[in-house]
Amino acid sequence: MISQKNGLFNLSTINTTYLFQARLNEQLEHLYYGSFLDEKSINPSLLTTKYKQEAGTSTLYEENSKLNLGLMKQEISTVGKGDYREPFMRVSYNGGMQTLDFVFESYEIYNGKTFSESPLPQAYGDERECDTLKITLREKELKIKLVLTYGVFTFCDVITRKVELFNNAKKNITIESINSLQLDIDECNFEMITFDGAWARERHVNRRDLKPGIVVNDSKCGTSSAYHNPLIYVCEKNCQELRGKCYATNLLYSGNHKEIVEVTNYNQTRILTGINEASFKWLLRPNESFETPEAILSYSDKGFSTVSRNFHYFANNNIVKGFWKNKDRPILVNSWEAFYFDFDDSNLISLAKKAKEIGAELFVLDDGWFGARNDDTSSLGDWVVNTKKLKEGLGKLSNKIHKMNMLFGIWVEPEMISRNSNLFEKHPSWAIMIPGRRPSVGRNQFILDMSRDEVILYLEDVLSKIFELGEVDYVKWDFNRVFSDLYSINKEMSNMGEFLHRYYLGLYKLLNRLTTKFPKILFESCAAGGNRYDLGMLSFMPQNWTSDCTDVYERIFIQEGTSFGYPLSAMTNHVSAAPNHQTLRNSDIESRFNVAAIGNLGYEINLNTATSHEIDQIKEQINFYKRYRHTLQFGTLARIQTMSEGNKRAVWAVMNRDKSEIIVLDFRERTIPNPPLERLYVPIVDNDSYYELFNRPQKFDLSVFGDLINHFLPSKLLKGKAADELAKILHLNIEITHHRVYGELISKAGIILNQEFGGTGFENEVTRVLGDYGSRLYVLKKLEV
Ligand code: DGJ
Repeated sequence: MISQKNGLFNLSTINTTYLFQARLNEQLEHLYYGSFLDEKSINPSLLTTKYKQEAGTSTLYEENSKLNLGLMKQEISTVGKGDYREPFMRVSYNGGMQTLDFVFESYEIYNGKTFSESPLPQAYGDERECDTLKITLREKELKIKLVLTYGVFTFCDVITRKVELFNNAKKNITIESINSLQLDIDECNFEMITFDGAWARERHVNRRDLKPGIVVNDSKCGTSSAYHNPLIYVCEKNCQELRGKCYATNLLYSGNHKEIVEVTNYNQTRILTGINEASFKWLLRPNESFETPEAILSYSDKGFSTVSRNFHYFANNNIVKGFWKNKDRPILVNSWEAFYFDFDDSNLISLAKKAKEIGAELFVLDDGWFGARNDDTSSLGDWVVNTKKLKEGLGKLSNKIHKMNMLFGIWVEPEMISRNSNLFEKHPSWAIMIPGRRPSVGRNQFILDMSRDEVILYLEDVLSKIFELGEVDYVKWDFNRVFSDLYSINKEMSNMGEFLHRYYLGLYKLLNRLTTKFPKILFESCAAGGNRYDLGMLSFMPQNWTSDCTDVYERIFIQEGTSFGYPLSAMTNHVSAAPNHQTLRNSDIESRFNVAAIGNLGYEINLNTATSHEIDQIKEQINFYKRYRHTLQFGTLARIQTMSEGNKRAVWAVMNRDKSEIIVLDFRERTIPNPPLERLYVPIVDNDSYYELFNRPQKFDLSVFGDLINHFLPSKLLKGKAADELAKILHLNIEITHHRVYGELISKAGIILNQEFGGTGFENEVTRVLGDYGSRLYVLKKLEV
């Protein structure tokens, strides 16, 4: 809901209120953002800045004025009029002048939020779910205007914001920096959470104290990046998962971003998010405009899990669009870690048959099917089938997969070019490199100049042909290096500072065209795993490969961090081999499944060499997953206990809308001897309902006991080697948990789980044997009474 009364703008959602004041010819004053306030309680004169005396060395707005922009909370801040905090934007004109003064001119409110012409990704929603506010500001002396667009998404407590700068003057101006969102808060006792990492260990949670000064979270490598995701949280010091005040922002953008949190010596906090100016400079000629990416903002006084739930709902309903919106995603088998580059029709078909047998629904042919690609040194750009490997061609292979009644998916890395490729021979200038300088390189490849129309047209054409030929149902869109040697011969550009942003405008244009042309293809974004994991990509591709690391322990940290900003439906998780290919760590396949099941499930493992027992286990896993798939993919996640906060145990609960179905993952870092009893709390259940609580049946093989089995089992024949062999094929059921439990009990008291193996005895189906990195899935089903 958006309302305006006497210049007071009230942007309210179900649980939050955002207020600012706009008077004709005056600067916008931000008043409040936080828990919902009823109209009748709102009194702007009690929220406005109250400095009436000139303080110390402060600058007053003009002669005979008391206005101190440096202390006022603002919707947008500029340079040159007394606000010395980080500015929302900086432009230069008339040989380097920077002073700007924007004042309120007019506004428009309308229901719903529709797409504008821009190729930039945009949040959307109908009249029931959101409203839009446009505020036009004019610069007092220059003929430039700034339009602020707010989207207010009622049900998920999300507010979006972007700005558009119009140059109606007769001279050029240069945008040196421009953000999308600014939030000024009157408090400062905060902590900040960022989501940082690197390849194969993306988006780990990092929490730090904020003190006076500036903290920057940013990316300068050309993608939203695994180094620092654009998502940030700012929270009160004792904020936890299920209680406490927190603000969070994110950006619908896949390129360089920058988030600034500044704490002032007047106990205020300013949050800014937008394009990183480090690689940005934009010339705005007369009659041109520049639009920023959209940013999103959410707040809750009920802890992190509530804000992330807001983001999950928002992403599922107002970011992801098209055929796959809120639609169950297929369980896939991917060829990459099974074969890497070494495959042909025959082992692919065997893998596909196994995929069918275990109950998978989508078979994905990963890297290596095109050009002369037998390793990562060649062929990117040559999107033609390698008939040495696929003798019957792509169409035939796809046909066979379809005949097995599975979907067919394919890997591409369209934005790249190998020096060793036909495309490079033909169009060397399409690769991003600086003439006369030896280029830096990543994974032996270069990036195509997506700011140029001819490149976009080529890719649209060649990819369309492949998608049609292969009757492709799913595309994994990879991006395996980051930017260097920024350079382009694009004629539209006035300087190299425009290049990266124009790159993304080109990429988004291409994605727009392809997703319109192939509306039913399920696109999954990937960038060497999660190196471009953002709401921009999610606007075109409903899924994102979370990380190249599928190690069960590392995944807990990655998935925990990712879930702060992105829904489970977007998070793809694969069960892979043990020892794990990224860490060489061994873990139980059941636990690998339990963790992968919290989101979008796939298998990336050589099923051709799996034992029949493993195949049976996988079949059971898939059956279980199919039963609870909708909740596991589209449910809301509450992180009840996290390892990111230093616990040795992670407990995550995923629930459907009416809390009638809840799946709980209980993951353990390490086993300890003589362990204490453990309790399972699920404080998000419906307190006044009965639930049936049971664990997913799992098996474990007797070999976990080593030579202890000689003491368990009666027969002397079982001693020595024979015992070891037998142990591998004898499988036991894990402990069985099955109760009828009242909601309040499991939410407030928690239930005590069975005793864990502690070195002194074992009772079949009773003693819990978890092992290092072990886990359980519990199901809570609401009972009709
Ligand atoms: C990086 C991806 O993240 C992997 O899953 C795989 O597709 C490889 N690229 C293929 O080169």
